[in-house]
Amino acid sequence: MPFEFLKHRQYLARPRRIVEPVSWVGHIPFAFLLMEVLRPRVVVELGVHSGNSFNAFCQAVDELALETTCHGVDTWAGDEHAGTYEEAVYQELRAHQEAHYARFAQLMRMTFDEAQACFAEGSVDLLHIDGLHTYEAVRHDFEHWRDKLSPQAVVLFHDTRVRERGFGVWRLWEEIAERHPSYNFRHSHGLGVLLVGEGVPEPVQALVEALNREESLPALLARLGDCILEDHRHRERIAELERALSGQRALAEARLGEARELAVRLDEVNRKYGECCRQHGRLAETLRKETERRQYLAGRLDELRSALEHARGEAAGLREANRELEKRLAMREGQLEEIFASRVWRLTAPLRRGKGSNETGA
Ligand SMILES: C[S@@+](CC[C@H](N)C(=O)[O-])C[C@H]1O[C@@H](n2cnc3c(N)ncnc32)[C@H](O)[C@@H]1O
Repeated sequence: MPFEFLKHRQYLARPRRIVEPVSWVGHIPFAFLLMEVLRPRVVVELGVHSGNSFNAFCQAVDELALETTCHGVDTWAGDEHAGTYEEAVYQELRAHQEAHYARFAQLMRMTFDEAQACFAEGSVDLLHIDGLHTYEAVRHDFEHWRDKLSPQAVVLFHDTRVRERGFGVWRLWEEIAERHPSYNFRHSHGLGVLLVGEGVPEPVQALVEALNREESLPALLARLGDCILEDHRHRERIAELERALSGQRALAEARLGEARELAVRLDEVNRKYGECCRQHGRLAETLRKETERRQYLAGRLDELRSALEHARGEAAGLREANRELEKRLAMREGQLEEIFASRVWRLTAPLRRGKGSNETGA
């Protein structure tokens, strides 16, 4: 039976949450489609990290209202290929999971080997292996989980196209791909789809056949995956620009605040400047009057100085005349004393007395 692609539409859904690292994101449209076609009862993911693939399975369960439980296993300690990462990666994923998928999904923080005990044999319908990518590790994970797979099980292997840094999924894939119906996507580092169960539902088999037959189908799914990645990059860029914008806005607000403050200070300075101008006008007027007064006083001083000079000259003349008079007086007094001491004066004294009495009597 040919695969009826247009009967399905979940592959068109927009993922609710995309976070770094995005190496799996290109496979989300296929994950949505597979969930719609397979309708698994139990999904187990080995290697969750920030949750792009696990969230895709969970979103499909939620939007398609499937009777599915999803189990994401990871130590969230990282490995030699994924590197180490911060605890926040797990905490943020857990918050998202609790907000959207708590009803049917669980994050199991443990090793893949430890998690096995939690699952009954033949119970897992969809197993996604995306832990450490060495040949030995992937082979170990595949072999140790085989017993858990149900008759309708599909196993997904990520990074089947990576041949560097000790990745060995491609090697295991080469060994097992021919043993079961399978398809190996080229994009987003490769994703191997292996129909391991004997009773994989007919539509899933038809899907894998169509993927192998119609080149346009994987190309379309890859293109849709690219669109998700591009959308994510654009959203990141927008968020980055918004952060930068809000930073610039805060800066502009701060500048505006400073400008307002400066305007207030400028008003104050202008007011003070006006006051200073008026005071300067008053002082200039006072100075002008003072200058006039000073000039008048300087004139008066000159007049007084010359009057003083003149008076000094007169005083000197008077002192000289005085000295002359004093000299003449002294001379006269000498002459008078000589006269009073002379014999003639003494002999004529009676005469002056008689004359005096006569004059007194007359
Ligand atoms: C490539 S990442 C998973 C990527 C994820 N599927 C996605 O969509 O981005 C591999 C993860 O597997 C985990 N891991 C590797 N080996 C493990 C093991 N044996 N037990 C538990 N977790 C393991 C690492 O901690 C790492 O987070």
